[in-house]
Amino acid sequence: MRFDILTTFPEMFSESAPGALGLSIPSRARAAGLAEWHATNLRDFTTDKHQKTDDRPFGGGPGMVMMCQPIWDAVHAIEARDPRPATRVVLTPQGRLLDQSLVEELAAKPRLLLIAGHYEGLDERVIQKLAPLEVSIGDYVLSGGELAAMVLMDAVIRLLPGVLGHELSAAEDSFSPAGPDGRRLLDCPHYTKPREWMGEAVPDVLLSGNHAQIAKWRLDQQMARTRERRPDLLD
Ligand code: ADE
Repeated sequence: MRFDILTTFPEMFSESAPGALGLSIPSRARAAGLAEWHATNLRDFTTDKHQKTDDRPFGGGPGMVMMCQPIWDAVHAIEARDPRPATRVVLTPQGRLLDQSLVEELAAKPRLLLIAGHYEGLDERVIQKLAPLEVSIGDYVLSGGELAAMVLMDAVIRLLPGVLGHELSAAEDSFSPAGPDGRRLLDCPHYTKPREWMGEAVPDVLLSGNHAQIAKWRLDQQMARTRERRPDLLD
């Protein structure tokens, strides 16, 4: 799968940066040829000598608005670099909330073009003309869309076939369909060695070797946790 990121901070995605994507699962996926990403500097598509990407908002007010032309030109230039059709995504707090079902939808695409906005966001007209999917990673405001793009990429990459070592490990995560009715539940508690720690023992059932009972216990725990912590998921 190919990701393109349009940003004024391409260094955040550089291959040598040992940041969020340069280590761990995403970097292994990249090394294995299962995911690739290319960051493009929006400033390369400006036409003035100051390489201006934003300007003051009409009507006044604080902040700056990202201008239409550099974004429009960049998106078309990036799309022409690869024959796979790109799904355009703008990261914005006003977008559709990123949840596991949206992550699954995005993981099925051959290519995503992620546009990271800054300040007060993009001029509304370029959003209308590009008709991207607008995606938010949560009800809070980040300084820019780059971290949101990385969150989205990490969540998508781990779902790509072959990326996780254990074939089923993503299927057993929180928010993956679980139980007979396929509801998206929180994960169950997990334990490892030692069997007793600070006077606390591991639940007996997990040591029983009875796989049916263990599976039932885990599902019960998932239901109880979800009811307690995230009842909205059961609605
Ligand atoms: N840019 C700024 N805040 C954001 C958020 N919560 N989600 C996605 N992009 C953003």
